[in-house]
Amino acid sequence: MAENILITGGAGFIGSNFTRRILKNRPEARVTVLDKLTYAGNLSNLGDLMKKPNFDFEKGGIENAPLVERLFTERDFDTVVNFAAESHVDRSILGPKVFLETNIMGTFTLLEAARGAWLSGSGSIEGKRFIHVSTDEVYGTLGETGYFTEDTPYRPNSPYSASKAASDHLVRAYYHTYGLPVITTNCSNNYGPYQFPEKLIPLMIINALKGEKLPVYGDGANIRDWIYVSDHSAAILAVMNKGQLGEVYNIGGRNEQKNVDIVKLICEIVDKMTSEDPELAREYPFSGRRSELITFVADRAGHDRRYAIDSTKIERELGWQATTDFTHGMEKTVRWYINNRPWWEAVISGEYMKYYEEQYGKR
Ligand code: NAD
Ligand code: TYD
Repeated sequence: MAENILITGGAGFIGSNFTRRILKNRPEARVTVLDKLTYAGNLSNLGDLMKKPNFDFEKGGIENAPLVERLFTERDFDTVVNFAAESHVDRSILGPKVFLETNIMGTFTLLEAARGAWLSGSGSIEGKRFIHVSTDEVYGTLGETGYFTEDTPYRPNSPYSASKAASDHLVRAYYHTYGLPVITTNCSNNYGPYQFPEKLIPLMIINALKGEKLPVYGDGANIRDWIYVSDHSAAILAVMNKGQLGEVYNIGGRNEQKNVDIVKLICEIVDKMTSEDPELAREYPFSGRRSELITFVADRAGHDRRYAIDSTKIERELGWQATTDFTHGMEKTVRWYINNRPWWEAVISGEYMKYYEEQYGKR
């Protein structure tokens, strides 16, 4: 029988990338995306996939128990991949409550629905899988050396990472207590097409194109381990195919970068692309170097200094590896934002402007 897959948060940045991959990789599968279409969710991220006969879209929240239970009853899912989340640290500082509602209560609601469908009455866990997509931020911050492994203790420092940590703990508990067939993945910072421009890389690309201030928090020396989004999707697919139930897999790009170096690289790429194409130079006029737009602003509260993932386990056990070179990935990403101006102009109107003013106005 064809697989029946529920992807939550599939209209977001990583979820839409994964949905595209799964529909290509498993053409027979029936795929349902459940997404609340918050400010971060966008049906245009799914594009033509919406027309496929084996694809269904349901608008709704993962914390909506009657809706989630109905979907489990009607569709008999065998695989769940849970991307749905409030995902931005700065927004979690401005307003944490919705992070608890979606990330904790939402994940709990999904776990309960899976338990009800797979572990009661005539249900069975044969061939079933609940994959919970999480972040390396649950481990807290690193000093100058060391890496996060699957055994690193959880020490979340932001409301976002605390809410993701809580959801990870629930997922673990459902395996140990009820035998729910779960796997958790903890990935480092993603970048690539369709990322909402509140996050570092798309925000800097768009501001650099528009010739606006590039606000770097603190001293700009915070480090993240960046992975191209399709490498993350490939890792989740490997986990879906070969991952061991009850296990955790750390996913990273083996690519540590300082924030300010990333912003400089974006400036170089934008300067080069616009200078080589007269039409682009007219569309995005700027004299001088865009690195002059870099502005050091007040630091983020509780700003984690360094993240770095040790991805040995998934590389060894599942044969996955990140393959996208960082400069090449950044060039592809900048090119995508250049080619998709209507997409980002639509998402930075309205609500985004209010957020931007609140976040950056006084910095
Ligand atoms: P995103 O903010 O771009 O997308 C989140 C999606 O979830 C949106 O489509 C949104 O509409 C949907 N959503 C939000 N609340 C919902 C709710 N209550 N019910 C249903 N749908 C809801 O996020 P992303 O960057 O694509 O991240 C996806 C997942 O990956 C998240 O769980 C995040 O914690 C995790 N993750 C992200 C990164 C990263 O660098 N972006 C790194 C590691 C892990
Ligand atoms: P972000 O993309 O928000 O991801 P996360 O906080 O989940 O790692 O931020 C990446 C890094 O960039 C983080 O150290 C904060 C920093 N940053 C800035 O310096 N300026 C900005 O405007 C933003 C959004 C982030």
